[in-house]
Amino acid sequence: MNTQNQHPKVRTVASTQSEKTEIVLPNDTNMLGHLLGGRLMHFIDLTGAMAAYRHARTNVVTASMDHIDFIRPVHLGDLVTLKSSVNRAFSSSMEVGVKVWAENTRTGEVAHVASAYLVFVAVDEQGRVQKVPQLKPETPDEVRRFDDALRRREHRERESVRRSEGKLAVAALASEQDNPS
Ligand SMILES: CC(C)(COP(=O)(O)OP(=O)(O)OC[C@H]1O[C@@H](n2cnc3c(N)ncnc32)[C@H](O)[C@@H]1OP(=O)(O)O)[C@@H](O)C(=O)NCCC(=O)NCCS
Repeated sequence: MNTQNQHPKVRTVASTQSEKTEIVLPNDTNMLGHLLGGRLMHFIDLTGAMAAYRHARTNVVTASMDHIDFIRPVHLGDLVTLKSSVNRAFSSSMEVGVKVWAENTRTGEVAHVASAYLVFVAVDEQGRVQKVPQLKPETPDEVRRFDDALRRREHRERESVRRSEGKLAVAALASEQDNPS
């Protein structure tokens, strides 16, 4: 890891808050006129990256996106608003939360349609991992998200180990089948 930035500053959650609004156009929808899941994931990735950029003030790459529940469909012509902020900064990675609402432009009804957690990693121009400033939660909600982010990181790490072990077991089985003794 590049440790040139030895004394990173501390930043607030408020300084990372980002927002994006899109109108759902025909190209964004499936045959039913519902916003495509992949398109929504793209919006989520972009809005998450905005918060990570504001925190890291360097290039960031998406390392992971946790599972997303599409709670209800978003329709052609709806306004989709996404809000993001950094929940916690670790050494070079940041967990960002993104929440999505859809607004029916005729009725004005606004509904929460999706939420996601993403991990971004700060990198330099050569793609080398960079340290990021620490994050200082200020409000009770920010403190709760900060604490939860550590639990989710530990869960991701356990899942990563479990997947690696699963891959090794599958490779060992395939090797046994290819070379029966
Ligand atoms: C993300 C990436 C930079 C990590 O590189 P790496 O060599 O594994 O780096 P390290 O092992 O030193 O880990 C660096 C940080 O990334 C985190 N990380 C790595 N892989 C991760 C994953 N799959 N999920 C969550 N965090 C991850 C580590 O926990 C570590 O965090 P910390 O420094 O805050 O403790 C590298 O895997 C990469 O470039 N991936 C492709 C990213 C990409 O192309 N995204 C899509 C387009 S933006």
